[in-house]
Amino acid sequence: MKAYRAALLRFDDNRQALHDSDGLLVVGDDGRIADVGSWQALRERHANVPVEHLPGRLLAPGFVDMHIHYPQTDVIGSPADGLLPWLENYTFPHESRFSDAQHAAESADFFIEELLRNGVTSALVFSTSHAASVDALFSLAEARGMRLMTGKCLQDRFCPEGVADQTEQGLRESEELIQRWHGRGRLGYAITPRFAPTSTDAQLAGAGELARQYPDVWIQSHVAENLAEVRWVAELFPQARSYLDVYDRFGLMRERAVYAHCIHFDDTDRALMRDTRTAAAICPTSNLFLGSGFFDYDALARVPFLHGLASDVGGGTSFSPFHTMLAAYYAGREGLTKAGVSLSPGALWWQHTAGAAQALGLEGVVGNLAVGCEADFLVLDPQATPLLARRTGQASHLDELLFAMIVLGDDRLVERAVVAQA
Ligand code: GUN
Ligand code: ZN
Repeated sequence: MKAYRAALLRFDDNRQALHDSDGLLVVGDDGRIADVGSWQALRERHANVPVEHLPGRLLAPGFVDMHIHYPQTDVIGSPADGLLPWLENYTFPHESRFSDAQHAAESADFFIEELLRNGVTSALVFSTSHAASVDALFSLAEARGMRLMTGKCLQDRFCPEGVADQTEQGLRESEELIQRWHGRGRLGYAITPRFAPTSTDAQLAGAGELARQYPDVWIQSHVAENLAEVRWVAELFPQARSYLDVYDRFGLMRERAVYAHCIHFDDTDRALMRDTRTAAAICPTSNLFLGSGFFDYDALARVPFLHGLASDVGGGTSFSPFHTMLAAYYAGREGLTKAGVSLSPGALWWQHTAGAAQALGLEGVVGNLAVGCEADFLVLDPQATPLLARRTGQASHLDELLFAMIVLGDDRLVERAVVAQA
């Protein structure tokens, strides 16, 4: 057992942020949180446990990134008119380099370190179509003890040689990877059709069949990100009611299915997300950078479905959850001009921690400082920069403190990211 004494940020069952100005976080030998609360209330119960005292620091749940591409670390900041030319001119050429296992290993190593430096302790990650890229990332996540899910991209059409796979072989490799990695330690496999346009009907059907055979593996893809993409999907799948309906027809909507973006939806799509318990990964820095549009928080309030935040690096511009939360706030403000959703700082933070965990089917496992959760947590320094110190020093309640960190924060706020050690 080991305990940490500092201020605490956590969430109750109603998504409300709780703040203890002087708290205690007790971690058991199994790597799970054994107790948490105010230091005054808990000190006697844990009198024999060694305590690390961290005055002036805030302990918070490790962030959960619901959608990020590790092979696109070097694609960040590549300008394009929109999604489709960006994929063709930058993303596919970069991803083709991951046929080289050494390049994959070096990139995976950098990626994992960058996640942790930014306070992201769990993630659902796209690898490339090369099985070796998946092996490289899982190996390094396992060495770090991180809870991480990834999968090999299925993409058997409309993408260049070097990144395209073959229908049956891609599915076979996915199943081999499930058997090799899924459920090993804290790792999980995600069946990963890149998006509807780049898989044949046969490959999407095979992905759906795999999802049926392995009900506790994740599914990840993209949907309704960009208007040109939406038009292309309508041409390719004329029988589908909508872009999202393509995935439903192939058996790719269920719990633990996660679709990035979900921008150009109607309420029938939203109801389908809700009714199948499929989750949205909201990627606001990417949506702003690629000019894709704004996730509609207003419509989400009308027809709620599982959701959380994601960086979508390299369409996204930053590994930092603080940047992502701020961009989500801007997206919510866009909604506000239409009807009236303003995202509170607690709601933003929830979407990148406990909410993201819930959307991934990992509620009570990661994303919160609650008894029984795996002890992935951050030591934040609200005085990390002169401006942060000045502004957080004047915060008179929790919302002001959280907003100051969301607006001014980045990797400098994250003094330490602790990954649960069993
Ligand atoms: N749609 C299909 N592939 C991608 C990708 O790599 N990034 C984003 N943002 N959208 C996609
Ligand atoms: Zn993406």
